Amino acid sequence: MKNSSNKYLSLQKLLVVILQGFKLFVISAIFTDAIIITAAESLPYIPQDAITIDCGSSRNSTAFDLRSWSGDVNSPFFPIQGRNEASIASAVLWSYTLEEDPVPHGTARLSHSEFTYTIPVSTPGPKFIRFHFYSDVYQYLDPSKAVFSVKVGRFTLLSNFSVFLSAHARGRKSIVKEFYVPIEKSIVNITFTPESSVSEAFVLINGIEVVSTPADLYFRDSDDGNHGHVLVGQDSFYYLKNDTSLETMYRINIGGKEVIPAEDTGIFRRWERDDIYLTIPGQSLGAASFISPHKFTAIPDYIAPVSVYETARTMGNDKEMNKKYNLTWEFPVDSGFYYMLRLHFCEILAEINNTGDRCFLIFISNETAELEADVIYWSGGKYVPYFRDYVVAMFGQNGENKLNLSLALEANPDDSLTLYSDAILNGAEIFKLNNSGGSLARPDSDLSPQVPQPTQQHVIQKHVRTTITVTFSGKAFGVLFLFIICLLILRACRKIRKMKNLSGSSEETICADLFHSRTPVSKQSAGVSSLPSDLCRNFSLAEIPAATNNFEDNSIGVGGFGHVYKGMINDGVTMVAVKRLKPRSSQGVQRVPDRDQMNLATSYADCGEEANEPSRVGPFLSSREKT
Ligand SMILES: *[C@@H]1O[C@H](CO)[C@@H](O)[C@H](O)[C@H]1NC(C)=O
Ligand SMILES: *[C@@H]1O[C@H](CO)[C@@H](O)[C@H](O)[C@H]1NC(C)=O
Ligand SMILES: *[C@@H]1O[C@H](CO)[C@@H](O)[C@H](O)[C@H]1NC(C)=O
Ligand SMILES: *[C@@H]1O[C@H](CO)[C@@H](O)[C@H](O)[C@H]1NC(C)=O
Ligand SMILES: *[C@@H]1O[C@H](CO)[C@@H](O)[C@H](O)[C@H]1NC(C)=O
Ligand SMILES: *[C@@H]1O[C@H](CO)[C@@H](O)[C@H](O)[C@H]1NC(C)=O
Ligand SMILES: *[C@@H]1O[C@H](CO)[C@@H](O)[C@H](O)[C@H]1NC(C)=O
Repeated sequence: MKNSSNKYLSLQKLLVVILQGFKLFVISAIFTDAIIITAAESLPYIPQDAITIDCGSSRNSTAFDLRSWSGDVNSPFFPIQGRNEASIASAVLWSYTLEEDPVPHGTARLSHSEFTYTIPVSTPGPKFIRFHFYSDVYQYLDPSKAVFSVKVGRFTLLSNFSVFLSAHARGRKSIVKEFYVPIEKSIVNITFTPESSVSEAFVLINGIEVVSTPADLYFRDSDDGNHGHVLVGQDSFYYLKNDTSLETMYRINIGGKEVIPAEDTGIFRRWERDDIYLTIPGQSLGAASFISPHKFTAIPDYIAPVSVYETARTMGNDKEMNKKYNLTWEFPVDSGFYYMLRLHFCEILAEINNTGDRCFLIFISNETAELEADVIYWSGGKYVPYFRDYVVAMFGQNGENKLNLSLALEANPDDSLTLYSDAILNGAEIFKLNNSGGSLARPDSDLSPQVPQPTQQHVIQKHVRTTITVTFSGKAFGVLFLFIICLLILRACRKIRKMKNLSGSSEETICADLFHSRTPVSKQSAGVSSLPSDLCRNFSLAEIPAATNNFEDNSIGVGGFGHVYKGMINDGVTMVAVKRLKPRSSQGVQRVPDRDQMNLATSYADCGEEANEPSRVGPFLSSREKT
């Protein structure tokens, strides 16, 4: 009796491992972009310190994006002394329910008492400090009791912070909190303290990053003269000095696609899409450049990646319509703080050549920030990236916790001041500044007002119960169920392999579409139902020269990675843009440019992936594309 139940258990374990493996496979397929990794030698900035700590793990591991994380068990970052001893390392209880990369989300450090990480860095100066949290069940602890504060030096970064509520408000289990902190010594002490007003509160932390940056990335000395921060609503400049900590609220690649940390300038920032922050979604246009804006003559090249500057949003082609509305984004922020906005500009539109061609207005929080925004005047030329910083006070009149920080662009109403009635913006970053007490935190600051007050108990119970059903109740049934799933997965895998063979493409070409397949079971079991429904097509090597007339006479531009050609596919029915990458250099892995480099709504495929001559195909668009 006992024997057979043991057998069942080990069989069950095996199946769980297989299931988990398949899930990771699917997740990593989603991360394909990340796997095509940036080679360090092409990055504008290489940080002296890029420390990644996988909390609760005893080994060094590699994440899907190929960053390596070092475990904190027995590591110098987490000295076992004083109160640190009371903390424990733990894995997520039902690890096969993980929704994210297991590094660093699969393990955590937990404690009912205070503990401190001591992280040595090579030099003092400002650092990005990122915390990765994954809200789930650890050691059967109630996830809603993960409430704590985090301090670094004299700064309070988080206070009465609930991992569960923050994750719930964002509709996912994982959250990243990013801070930019001036570090005075060659050591970063990060102290986690459970919230005393919550009974049985505990600290939960899955991953910590400490990344150094150029000292002038966001801070300004008051005597350096240029690039002061415009204090919005008051006709003066503000110099954000290195006595202040920042919390990243939003970082947006406007008009473009998400830029993952490995594609940043070397400091691992993530850039989101902008669509969900637009107040009138259908009105404006996403714009993309065929010419790579990498002339960093006005600003250093580590400020933002080229992919941020090569896409933008403009108001539209209808001059009269443009004058009737403000191109507006709204960002919910905590009341009671100052905020720093960094706006990224680059003139990428074919029509605009000179100062005065496009002059527009910028409003921040309904106050005038710029009356004469002229990107070519500021940057000194077309395709030259530039940025401007602003500081704005957000203090609610009626004691609200949340306010909307609005950013609005207005076409110049006076036609004598501009040739085109239009506006442009390429990227935006919004940071919260610590208050005079050194704190960035506000109690329950993460309860988004849009989300109804969570029925927390209900949510947890439901989660626990369904998970238990799968794992423990009715062993025989569970085994049978998992077995069937595995069989179906195996069939799905075979199908995928078959499809791959049929397509005749090289092994390396991975198409998300294959995982989006007609096998409902693989979807269910992996919990992946919302993969991008990109049209996906592989092109054979022969098709590309045929479509582009052997790359002759129809180059329509040159990007940082090679020429772009016009071509015809589908027997001359569909016009496409083909990017022919420069032959690979001998360094091995090379950065493959963004598949959405040209803001292609649907990228047909990576194609012709023969070692020497990779190319990319996308629908041919004029320089503007309606989004
Ligand atoms: C992890 O890597 C660090 C260096 O990055 C090394 O000092 C440490 O010994 C490694 N730990 C293990 C368990 O391999
Ligand atoms: C702030 O900047 C000054 C020089 O501008 C430097 O001496 C000081 O060490 C910096 N402090 C920090 C915390 O980075
Ligand atoms: C912490 O937040 C909880 C609710 O999230 C609240 O009940 C409690 O009073 C807060 N504690 C403090 C000290 O603000
Ligand atoms: C800018 O230059 C392009 C091509 O060089 C031209 O087609 C366009 O008309 C010019 N725009 C203006 C406003 O002169
Ligand atoms: C744009 O916003 C500003 C500031 O809120 C306002 O003064 C202006 O009238 C708006 N323009 C249009 C066309 O709505
Ligand atoms: C912010 O704007 C959104 C959309 O316009 C709105 O739904 C929300 O209620 C606003 N929030 C606040 C705090 O005003
Ligand atoms: C941030 O906190 C520090 C330390 O308390 C303080 O010196 C600094 O003035 C604060 N910054 C702002 C903008 O209030």
